[in-house]
Amino acid sequence: MSKSVGVIAFAHAFGLLQGLALAAVECTGTFEPISASDYVAAINPGWNLGNTLDATPNEGSWNNPPVQAETFKDIKAAGFKSVRIPVTYADHFTGTSPGWAIDADWLQRVSDVVDMALDAGLYVLTNVHHDSWQWADVSAAGANLTQIEERMHQTWLQIGEKLGCKSSSVAFEPINEPPVDTQEQATELNKLNGIFLQALKDSGGFNTQRVVTLVGPSMDSIKTSQWFEAPTGYDNPWALQYHYYSPYDFIFSAWGKTTLSDQDIATVESDLENIRGNFTDVPLVLGEFDASPISTEPAARRKYMDVVVRKAKELDTAVIVWDNGLDHFDRNTKKWKDPQSLEILLNAATGVSNSLAGYTTDASATEQSSSAYVFHKVGDAVTDQKISISLNGNTLKSIATEEGTVLDPSTDYTASGGEITFPSSFLSTYFSSSGTPGSKENLTISFSAGATAAVNLIQWDLPKLGSTSSKAVAGADLRIPVTWAGVNQPAAVKMLRQDGVYLFDDWTQYLGPLQAAYGTYSGQWNWDGGDLILTATTIDAVIAAGVATTFTFDFFPRVPGNSLNYTLNV
Ligand SMILES: *[C@@H]1O[C@H](CO)[C@@H](O)[C@H](O)[C@H]1NC(C)=O
Ligand SMILES: *[C@@H]1O[C@H](CO)[C@@H](O)[C@H](O)[C@H]1NC(C)=O
Ligand SMILES: *[C@@H]1O[C@H](CO)[C@@H](O)[C@H](O)[C@H]1NC(C)=O
Ligand SMILES: *[C@@H]1O[C@H](CO)[C@@H](O)[C@H](O)[C@H]1NC(C)=O
Repeated sequence: MSKSVGVIAFAHAFGLLQGLALAAVECTGTFEPISASDYVAAINPGWNLGNTLDATPNEGSWNNPPVQAETFKDIKAAGFKSVRIPVTYADHFTGTSPGWAIDADWLQRVSDVVDMALDAGLYVLTNVHHDSWQWADVSAAGANLTQIEERMHQTWLQIGEKLGCKSSSVAFEPINEPPVDTQEQATELNKLNGIFLQALKDSGGFNTQRVVTLVGPSMDSIKTSQWFEAPTGYDNPWALQYHYYSPYDFIFSAWGKTTLSDQDIATVESDLENIRGNFTDVPLVLGEFDASPISTEPAARRKYMDVVVRKAKELDTAVIVWDNGLDHFDRNTKKWKDPQSLEILLNAATGVSNSLAGYTTDASATEQSSSAYVFHKVGDAVTDQKISISLNGNTLKSIATEEGTVLDPSTDYTASGGEITFPSSFLSTYFSSSGTPGSKENLTISFSAGATAAVNLIQWDLPKLGSTSSKAVAGADLRIPVTWAGVNQPAAVKMLRQDGVYLFDDWTQYLGPLQAAYGTYSGQWNWDGGDLILTATTIDAVIAAGVATTFTFDFFPRVPGNSLNYTLNV
């Protein structure tokens, strides 16, 4: 540990020009230098405080209220080592060129929030966030690069001054996902990484000793491999950060994708291996990735979580999961939306093997199975049912109900390797041919090591729609009342014009039958408690096409007979 005193440099030209009140700040605390590789090892795994200080125009403007210190304690207690605190500065400038003064209250708020996280015992990585698609976009037509450089310097100078005396647990990231499409823009971004380091140097404090995570083009692993070049002439220990949201269609529930193929998994692994292969001696941080419990199928999602975090760990890459406040941790109720995803993440990040529910991996399948559920259709006789778990080296220990009753392994189920059979006698406790639809029980399966597996026992029937057709009305979402009857959300929505043409994305004909002609969650379809929703974008596309269109809503399980049609006339 070295005790050093940093003095904030104040005689910088831009500040003096602006007449900013810059006082020489002395750091009186100690600073324990840490290498970038030790830092990266220490922060794994991390959690993103998404949609909070990065919201525009203000903290609280999006779906989360202003952050409270307690949330960091909850995150620490859950098992995370670090938090990434994205901050958007764009709406907090009080000055213009050349000084670009930032509102002192905002800098104070950022400093206070960083302290809350440090007080909770977390490492902190903070950045300049959505500024990347506002003033800092080097790919924008007619971008004034001189001004972006000036503003980047001034922004980091002021952040550096404000946060310069924080401990070595605090690291900086210059800019989030900077859009870059060409070599020329990449060269400019490489320059901005250097300007960021120069600003930290100019700001004094402990900032030249502080770990930074530099960023490549768009923080995309492939463009980073292609174009990133580290600035020279600076002392900061540095890591490289990238983000990963692939396969796009699975992560964003696009084109009906509710499963992962073996090829998808292999591609995830090789993408992570490729960036490591390009930067063999650079500490790497996967600063954002996410498979949200809101819209992804649970067994496939849990497999995805495991493969990303495990592969990253193997490649000495720290992971920081993205959480927009709706995805994973409910900051109010303090509940995790998918506790198994959390357990899987925490275990994989320490290299512990997880046992994982099986799911359909065949991209050409006409229906989909998932061992995250046992499904029983209303009207059918209750029969024995089997689920399959990839044990991944573990052994099954026990199965318990939500209330904690441990199942009897001779009468309630039989297990052979990862094949678990629930006899009809046991399932009849929950299911019957004439019972009501809905979730009847959540079983938790424990193994000799790693995360538990959850099995939701669902009795399902076909949901009912409030109406089955209407005339398209431009410019607004269409809400179709629905009475759920099992899993209370649609799985996917097919959008087929009555002339046989796909409403969107004709090329999806080359995908499997569960994807061809299907639309994309959020942008084209959605749902809430009591409604299926076709978005205004979708309605407008039907009107533009001038052809009546049938929307086929698939529900879980995605099997023949569990779909409903709604027709939109023009
Ligand atoms: C570009 O930015 C610089 C620095 O802020 C400024 O002096 C210059 O006038 C700008 N150029 C244009 C064309 O706006
Ligand atoms: C570098 O990354 C590119 C793009 O992902 C990849 O094709 C290439 O194989 C990687 N190189 C190494 C040595 O891993
Ligand atoms: C099982 O868990 C799901 C997901 O958390 C929940 O929606 C459902 O209500 C639970 N079922 C029961 C019977 O508690
Ligand atoms: C739903 O619409 C599709 C055409 O998009 C059609 O093939 C299918 O038979 C319809 N299903 C029902 C139950 O009407």
